[in-house]
Amino acid sequence: MFFDRPDSGEVCILVHIALDSDREQEDPSEFEELALSAGAMPVAYITGSRKQPESSHFVGSGKLQEIAAAVQAHGAELVLFNHGLSPSQERNLERQLRCRVLDRTGLILDIFAQRARSHEGKLQVELAQLQHLSTRLKRGWTHLDRQKGGIGLRGAGETQLELDQRMIRQRIKSINKGLQKVRGRREQGRRSRRRAEAPTVSLVGYTNAGKSSLFNLLTDAESYAADQLFATLDSTLRRISLPNFGNAIVADTVGFISHLPHELVEAFRSTLEETANANLLLHVIDAANDMNSEYIGEVNSVLREIDAAEVPQLEVFNKIDLLEGVEPFLQRGQDGTPKRVYMSAKTGAGKALLKQALAELLAGSLVEETLTIAPHNARLRSQLYERGLVEDEQTDDSGAFIVKVRLPRKELNRVLDQGASLVVRTGPLSASTAASVPVTQVKRA
Ligand code: GTP
Repeated sequence: MFFDRPDSGEVCILVHIALDSDREQEDPSEFEELALSAGAMPVAYITGSRKQPESSHFVGSGKLQEIAAAVQAHGAELVLFNHGLSPSQERNLERQLRCRVLDRTGLILDIFAQRARSHEGKLQVELAQLQHLSTRLKRGWTHLDRQKGGIGLRGAGETQLELDQRMIRQRIKSINKGLQKVRGRREQGRRSRRRAEAPTVSLVGYTNAGKSSLFNLLTDAESYAADQLFATLDSTLRRISLPNFGNAIVADTVGFISHLPHELVEAFRSTLEETANANLLLHVIDAANDMNSEYIGEVNSVLREIDAAEVPQLEVFNKIDLLEGVEPFLQRGQDGTPKRVYMSAKTGAGKALLKQALAELLAGSLVEETLTIAPHNARLRSQLYERGLVEDEQTDDSGAFIVKVRLPRKELNRVLDQGASLVVRTGPLSASTAASVPVTQVKRA
């Protein structure tokens, strides 16, 4: 049973307290965007500072009175804290303020619950919500209208508050079972992609940088893009064709935010694993955002956390249409390899440069070889064509196909195992005359 979202946003009060102990402060302006993303209607932003959180209510009594007065004055239904609150702090605050209180993790979970698109994404969010809620069941709910739904009460939160711990444990068990099944299928998909031989390019980047827009531009697909945080929750895969290269798979992944609660990184680990397994990361950066160097650091630290730091990266400085006098541009490193592309996913300016950079970087990890395929092994030959790997083809006197291919080195062995033979070149090889030089076969599997 699901509750309808309120038509208009829930009137809410935002609270951000600068703490001495927090070396890494949450960003107050991002917090407002998060609240808007969840569909809330912030009417007051209360800030303050403390050495450390007060143990029972997080804030001191004076600040508590100020928040209570704002709740009264605006008729607020919800108070959002830009911090993690302990279950008892949340409970005590709700009693005092006589309205719902949600901490930062609860808010982010709510946004995730709204945006989950795949079956796996939905299960992951529900699991994370249940785990978050299971510690918070003993609320003073009697004074609250819990039938209405709303922020923090959607997805699992809507119904699970009604359940006791035992039922929650059962549900967690069955979700984990469901997730295992989905993950098995995902692993199968990954294997068949590996078999299908197309390298994977994963889009990563701070939330709102333009990943979905870029994904759409590259794949000409109608995927969901919205001016809200976390428009992308689940990883989405599409095939693209690159000039002078062949096919690649592009994966759109989750938007990163600063200080993503650790339990969420855990919840989305399998989605993020897609990223760690990619051949190349497209790190999308909002060129028009003043905070972008901090965001680049945040994204790279999440990448380290999910073991994706070693995957080669191409930086895409997006949204150059918002900057004056910046033209599409491909910047190369000292070794000549593409490092950065300046472009606009919105206008499409720089798309060709991006595709060129992708093709070059992916090709760098490939080897070029000439193979002999016996006439009866037409299946292998057609597979190579389907994957866009064939550069050139001739036939020899016996009717065998002499095929020039470009593919990742580790995949070459697999093709050899399927009955192709590697050709040792005994003369110079030019692109168009692969088979016109004397050849010797060295291996037949
Ligand atoms: P998350 O899913 O939250 O991680 O966001 P995202 O990185 O996928 O960003 P998305 O593609 O949803 O774009 C966010 C906003 O930026 C949308 O309003 C886009 O229309 C806008 N946008 C994306 N690319 C460009 C661009 O090149 N120029 C301009 N002006 N706006 C852009």
